[in-house]
Amino acid sequence: MHLAACLLLCACCTVLSAKSSRPNIIFILADDYGFHDIGYHKSEIKTPNLDKLAAAGVKLENYYVQPICTPTRSQFMSGRYQIHTGLQHGIIWAVQPNGLPLDSPTVADKIKQAGYSTHAVGKWHLGFYKDGYLPTNRGFDSYYGMTACMDEGIGNITAALSATGQLENTLIVFSTDNGVQIHAGGNNWPLRGWKASLWEGGFHGVGFVYGDMLKNKGTVNNQLIHVSDWFPTLVGVAGGNTNGTKPLDGFDQWKTISEGGASPRKELLHNIDILTQPKGAKLFNNTFDTRIRAAIRVGDWKLITGSPGNGSWIPPPHLSKETIVDTDDKEKNLWLFDIAKDPNEHNDLSASQPDIVKKLLDRLEYYQKTAVPPRYPDPDPKCDPKLHGGVWGPWE
Ligand SMILES: *[C@@H]1O[C@H](CO)[C@@H](O)[C@H](O)[C@H]1NC(C)=O
Ligand SMILES: *[C@@H]1O[C@H](CO)[C@@H](O)[C@H](O)[C@H]1NC(C)=O
Ligand SMILES: *[C@@H]1O[C@H](CO)[C@@H](O)[C@H](O)[C@H]1NC(C)=O
Ligand SMILES: *[C@@H]1O[C@H](CO)[C@@H](O)[C@H](O)[C@H]1NC(C)=O
Repeated sequence: MHLAACLLLCACCTVLSAKSSRPNIIFILADDYGFHDIGYHKSEIKTPNLDKLAAAGVKLENYYVQPICTPTRSQFMSGRYQIHTGLQHGIIWAVQPNGLPLDSPTVADKIKQAGYSTHAVGKWHLGFYKDGYLPTNRGFDSYYGMTACMDEGIGNITAALSATGQLENTLIVFSTDNGVQIHAGGNNWPLRGWKASLWEGGFHGVGFVYGDMLKNKGTVNNQLIHVSDWFPTLVGVAGGNTNGTKPLDGFDQWKTISEGGASPRKELLHNIDILTQPKGAKLFNNTFDTRIRAAIRVGDWKLITGSPGNGSWIPPPHLSKETIVDTDDKEKNLWLFDIAKDPNEHNDLSASQPDIVKKLLDRLEYYQKTAVPPRYPDPDPKCDPKLHGGVWGPWE
């Protein structure tokens, strides 16, 4: 139970519609939830409520989040890559005077503006050192404590909606916030690597959407979809507009999800983090520096540079398969995979496809030119709860 409490913190924002023609929207973000850990991915963990919703909705099988909490949450809330919000490096620690920049509205701001009431429950992780960064100042009418028994809780929510006749007019989105930390329980099999890495186990996520307004219920969607896409998608569903935001990195995926068809997203910048210790040698001139920790998808190609983290494949105990330990050279800093043909990253093609490598490095270089400097302040002694009545809260 302790594990469940840690791993399955869930933040859901229940947004009740103003006009009955527009749906309620429930976005459920599961914390540290691995690719393998859902019934329909053949997990030994039983998730009957999630399986039922997903089977009646659209399963997103080419769905991406970020490898750690704050970046995923920041991209969901802002619709923008973390290179554009200064959150490229790590999470926001409680002692840091840091937060999701206030210079662009959140998805909650925009949906509220569209006439909804907005509520959040669970983990925030987007800063609290100043009042302005708190959820209730970022578009939410209310915000409360954590949910432990996620699946049971979701079952209860849907039962309550059903009992009041509102389930038909509710859109439910379920998403992990990153892959699971393999050494803390849970599993990302058959993906490579785990939480905080740039391997697929870090961010190829579990996601599905449920709702009567989906035209193609009961389907599996293999289009490339990313957590930053929820911003324009949900604001669109809410009948709002994205006026007043900084340029969004997310795409409106409503048609892709509800009707099928091609995703407008052809590229996905997983991240560029210049603060992580560079690795190996600079392999090319006049393009992106391969020593820097970064990863990008262009179509089916995925390029990784720098230090991506441990890339071992660890199976769940019930499959009785062998762990495949990452034996890559300590200085190696470049990998290229064809994710459509090789979703679990067994065959590095960086040596045999130099032209694709160059093209993807150029895209990283292009994105890096648009990046703001990473913001990762030193701990602020003024944060100490002892100075604020024994509770964590805004201190500036
Ligand atoms: C779900 O509802 C049941 C019945 O009301 C209740 O006992 C249980 O605590 C609820 N579970 C959660 C996680 O809220
Ligand atoms: C967007 O903002 C501009 C400038 O404030 C305004 O002229 C325009 O009407 C707005 N569009 C919508 C759809 O609200
Ligand atoms: C990059 O340029 C430097 C300086 O001209 C040169 O010494 C180095 O060999 C070049 N590296 C590559 C990979 O071409
Ligand atoms: C990577 O993880 C595997 C599996 O846990 C472990 O055996 C291996 O030592 C790790 N490699 C490094 C360099 O830490």
